[in-house]
Amino acid sequence: MSYYIVKGDKILKGSVRVSGAKNSALKLMAASILSGGKVTLKNVPDIEDVHIMADVLRTLNARVDFDTEGHILEIDACNVDVFEAPYELVRKMRASVLVAGPLLSRFGKVKVAVPGGCNIGARQIDLHLKGFEALGALNSIEHGYVISSAKEGPAAGKPAGGRLTGASINLDFPSRGATENLMMAAVLAKGYTTISNAARETEISDLADFLNSMGAEISGAGTDCISIRGVKKLHGTAYEIMPDSIEAGTFIVAAALCGSDVEIIDAVWKNIEIFCLKIKETGININSTSKNSIRVKGLQKELKPVYVSTLPYPGFPTDLQPIIAVLLAVVPGISIITENVFENRFMYVEELNRMGANIKVDGHHAVINGVKKLSAAPVKAFDLRAGAAMVLAGLAAEGATEVYDIYHIQRGYENFDKKLASLGADIKLVNDTQINV
Ligand code: EPZ
Repeated sequence: MSYYIVKGDKILKGSVRVSGAKNSALKLMAASILSGGKVTLKNVPDIEDVHIMADVLRTLNARVDFDTEGHILEIDACNVDVFEAPYELVRKMRASVLVAGPLLSRFGKVKVAVPGGCNIGARQIDLHLKGFEALGALNSIEHGYVISSAKEGPAAGKPAGGRLTGASINLDFPSRGATENLMMAAVLAKGYTTISNAARETEISDLADFLNSMGAEISGAGTDCISIRGVKKLHGTAYEIMPDSIEAGTFIVAAALCGSDVEIIDAVWKNIEIFCLKIKETGININSTSKNSIRVKGLQKELKPVYVSTLPYPGFPTDLQPIIAVLLAVVPGISIITENVFENRFMYVEELNRMGANIKVDGHHAVINGVKKLSAAPVKAFDLRAGAAMVLAGLAAEGATEVYDIYHIQRGYENFDKKLASLGADIKLVNDTQINV
């Protein structure tokens, strides 16, 4: 397996551009199934998860071409005639479950492997299924697959299954995946749908804007109540994906830890406002320089501990919880992080403690007693964001840190090592073959 070697104590400076948002790109790719025409997506990040989603669409007989240099992805879903997302792909990437809404909406039926849990939590889909039922689908779980089919009469032009019927849906929790899947399920349903207690992340608005550019009629995305008037067909479109706010937050902490003066381009302050204000509260010099870039002058000596509590947007993003923990690990005093979204998102703490951090986890709380300096050690990436956090810890540590299981990181960060190296970090990707030589 490949791994990173990260040598600490380098000063970062210069500018780095954020790629397109992983957690928008994957949904827009799934939503392309709804289109009767060709879809062109721009600013698509060249990351592992995008390639997996492209493979999922190909198993449905969509045509997918990805120009990784130009970050342009073209999808033609006209000939989609398979309504099953196979276990081996859904097991690789949970987000594959997001083809369920579009397939159910366009063809009235879908068979998708139950994604199962992951390192950070159970990751259930009960809210997705409850919403499909409200829209007139019959759900059953058979041999590890969810099978959903619309009860009402034949979908327009398709013998497969029936057509969904608009409904009022109330989510018990503002789940992003459930909001996205139900929005996509409702766009071709008969009549009106409202989704209350909807997720409000900016990626939800990106998906709604994309669907509307194909002829959907969605309003209220970004608020907790989304309204959708079902239409008969959706046409093709060309659309540019929003920048990745979590990648932006990752580079902000890299700069806070060891950056003299770093500009993160396409980092939109309002998309991660609470996170940026929390970084500012520690005493780091962070400012929004224009509508789409953020400047950080790190290496401050006198930093202050803070309290962090993760919540659905606009609260502090859970995906940046492991990231800010690395900064707080070297801020003198006691900081406390409370994780309210996932049940098991402190797996990285033991790895950080092996690098000399002093963090105690008690249920949903991590109590961080800041230390002067971290020290290099061989560590593992447990998931995407925890893995990125290990690399950031290596940047700030004394010595050379080896970060293993970096496939987690490569799923969601495009050229992570190259971007950090362009700022002056000393990070090397070591492949299997090089180790054996
Ligand atoms: C999305 O996951 C993101 N993934 C996650 O990012 C992110 O951490 C998460 O939202 C929260 O912001 C993608 O967008 C591909 P949820 P999702 O449905 O949609 C519970 C990353 O690092 N829940 O909002 O699965 C669930 O168990 C990844 O890029 C139910 O109980 O998140 C969890 O505790 C990691 N039943 C909470 O809600 C359901 O039917 C949040 O889940 C659905 C969710």
